[in-house]
Amino acid sequence: MRTLKNPFITSSYESAEYFCDREQESRNLIREVTNGNNLALISTRRMGKTGLIQHCFHNPEIKGNYYTFFVDIYATKSLRDFVFSLSRVIVDGLKPFGRKAIEGFWNSVKSLQGGITFDPVGNPSFNLQLGDIHSTEATLDEIFRYLERAAKPVIVAIDEFQQVASYTEKNVEALLRTHVQHCRNARFIFAGSQRHVMGSMFTSASRPFYQSVSMMYLESIDLAEYAAFARAHFEKGGRQIEPGTVESIYERFDGITWYVQKMLNTLYSITPEKGQCTVKMIPEALQNILDSNNYTFQEILFRLPERQKQLLIAINKEGEARAVTSGGFVKKNSLPSPSSVQAALKGLLEKDFITHEQGVYRIYDRFFGIWLEENY
Ligand SMILES: Nc1ncnc2c1ncn2[C@@H]1O[C@H](COP(=O)(O)OP(=O)(O)OP(=O)(O)O)[C@@H](O)[C@H]1O
Ligand SMILES: [Mg+2]
Repeated sequence: MRTLKNPFITSSYESAEYFCDREQESRNLIREVTNGNNLALISTRRMGKTGLIQHCFHNPEIKGNYYTFFVDIYATKSLRDFVFSLSRVIVDGLKPFGRKAIEGFWNSVKSLQGGITFDPVGNPSFNLQLGDIHSTEATLDEIFRYLERAAKPVIVAIDEFQQVASYTEKNVEALLRTHVQHCRNARFIFAGSQRHVMGSMFTSASRPFYQSVSMMYLESIDLAEYAAFARAHFEKGGRQIEPGTVESIYERFDGITWYVQKMLNTLYSITPEKGQCTVKMIPEALQNILDSNNYTFQEILFRLPERQKQLLIAINKEGEARAVTSGGFVKKNSLPSPSSVQAALKGLLEKDFITHEQGVYRIYDRFFGIWLEENY
């Protein structure tokens, strides 16, 4: 196992050593899928859904017994994109299992055969282009037939699943639901944010996935667990962390994992070896983060249409904004009119600049929010 220069990771999953807690959640997730249930995993952005899935996929019980495929469909716009991404992920996921495993897939998915070739030594290479998918539904059919017949049971995690609700083709949810329902050899984890979109896909009686999965809402990591995790890693790196430091960050960022990690990462980097990280260093760490994003934030703001910019600043000022199209909110923030706010709101939501959960609008990127407060 490699030792990292900085134990507080802010990008992808590394290993259990650098992963804080989530023991109960991991047990629940593993229990659900190993007992034949499909699962919807929902949380606020950056809480740790993707990390949790990766963590469970690394668990020996899963790793040793299942094929695991993880497909992030954030950038997909159609069922065709989806089928393409899923095919790629399956081939990549089978690579460690050798040629035979890939051939199993290759033999099942006849419509894609042009896209997978083997060199003389038997190493597969995947040259599939989006244009090679001629009949999307037929390929999807074949993929599911493969999943049914794979040499091991399968777990497929589809990340950012809310995306399928906006695909260009109609009835994608119904189509996927039918496939998923009939597939006995594969279990599915549907992960996503935008609580209202993801939630309604699974909890509204008129939608195909209604009552077809176990629901799991991911909340913040327990503060005491986080504090212990931070202390252990500081000590391991020959440093101390003053009690109260983690508490202070955790409260400021509502316990959202990514912000806590980013702050700890920066605090660790500015704490000298054998030194102590203190509460007083928090503003400096935060300033470092804002400074390193200064250019990006300026660019983002510069590119936003004027009305979206005004609304974003108004929502951010409010912190948790409600009824933003009401006359009161419009007047208080000197916005043009409720109808123009409506249009601007749509734009901000589509670009993920703001989130909307349980009637509350707020800025998505908390660091951007602090930067805006300081500069506007
Ligand atoms: N238990 C954990 N311990 C340490 N770091 C974690 C943990 N869970 C997540 N992280 C880190 O926090 C960040 C955000 O996590 P992740 O990407 O999993 O969140 P997410 O809910 O999938 O976010 P999004 O909604 O943006 O997709 C990542 O950098 C990840 O490495
Ligand atoms: Mg994610």
